[in-house]
Amino acid sequence: MSMKLNLDLSRALVEPQAVAAREAELERAKKKLWSGEEPFTGWVRLPFDYDRNELADILAAAEKIRSQCEVFVVIGIGGSYLGAQAAISALRTEEGAGPEIYFAGQNLSGTYHKELLKKIEGKELCLCVISKSGTTTESSVAFSILKDELYKKYGRKGAAERIYAITDAERGILREETTREGYPSFVVPDDIGGRYSVLTAVGLLPIAVAGIDVEAMLKGAEAEAEASKATGSDAELLAAERISLLNRGKVIEVFEYYEPKLQFFAEWLKQLFGESEGKDGKGIFPAALQFSTDLHSMGQFLQDGNQIFFETVLNVLNPPGDLIVPESAGELLAGKSMNDINQAAVEGVIAAHQATGVPIIKLDIPELSSYCFGRLVYFFETTCALSGYLNGVNPFDQPGVESYKTEMRKVLKAK
Ligand code: PA5
Repeated sequence: MSMKLNLDLSRALVEPQAVAAREAELERAKKKLWSGEEPFTGWVRLPFDYDRNELADILAAAEKIRSQCEVFVVIGIGGSYLGAQAAISALRTEEGAGPEIYFAGQNLSGTYHKELLKKIEGKELCLCVISKSGTTTESSVAFSILKDELYKKYGRKGAAERIYAITDAERGILREETTREGYPSFVVPDDIGGRYSVLTAVGLLPIAVAGIDVEAMLKGAEAEAEASKATGSDAELLAAERISLLNRGKVIEVFEYYEPKLQFFAEWLKQLFGESEGKDGKGIFPAALQFSTDLHSMGQFLQDGNQIFFETVLNVLNPPGDLIVPESAGELLAGKSMNDINQAAVEGVIAAHQATGVPIIKLDIPELSSYCFGRLVYFFETTCALSGYLNGVNPFDQPGVESYKTEMRKVLKAK
């Protein structure tokens, strides 16, 4: 498999010199990324250095979970669930079978979790609790609630065989509990932050439970890692382009997708870029729109509103399903495939928005396969890290996320 993502920057309006001018800066940024000396850059070499024994353990655990339960609930928030949900939503097929998969602890809604308990009632259940710190309120609350369900059903000992924990190797209360109770477990590597962790056990275990080929995913990431080492790689060009656009006042990046299966991939992108770039008063605000749905809500703004944004189109060339439109749809549409009409929408929207001067970046994704997903993940991780360096911020920390937690704790203490 050697398919490539095709990055088309020709529709963005940045002058090529603006990108060329950043060559030296990009070289420095790349060196930093690949030096192995920067904190939280373990994901850079991950596709080459993946521990094959750990991968075998992940695949074995996934098989066991598939035979143990009818319902598998993945508990985590932010980087501890978005990558898995993105992959499962984009790639899961009926042939992959396996348990129903739900996510919990990605919000604090009593309504959401009450409805979840109703959905899983009476079914054989396994949990996967994912938290690098082990102290995140959302996942801790959901884990206690769902663990109670397991205790009621299987007793404490039986529950311990159905709880899979993914957390720090040594630190945190989740690791303590895992060791005490003997949960099967995996490690979130020390040198990989949450939003860069989808290709570790954090993403791979739930993705494998969904029957998705994680080895092909890692191969895709490896191919992209190889490609992104070369000078003038697509990831470099895109990083330079994004920062040039930002410097011209384009402070919002709108990720647009025409396949609803990419909804959570776009959510993952929002987290990746938002948490990595938005700091020190800098950054591009990442937004996501589903087309053509949102053309009937946000299309007006994009066409005619305040031009503070650029668009990044995620265009799937060969989506997995299709239908032919019947005669009754009229001459223009009859006999055409829905995917062809969707492609016409892609081209039509680009032409219309470009006519008003909106910079547009188009990324052609050959198909929704595990391999392409792995490539995309690595591609955007690299683009994001390089963009952060070009913009003078550390793309691997998230100091701002702590403030709401501190304030929330104060409110809880006062209650
Ligand atoms: O990217 C990140 O670091 C964050 O989004 C974390 O993944 C998120 O806050 C969850 O943290 P934890 O895994 O410690 O529960």
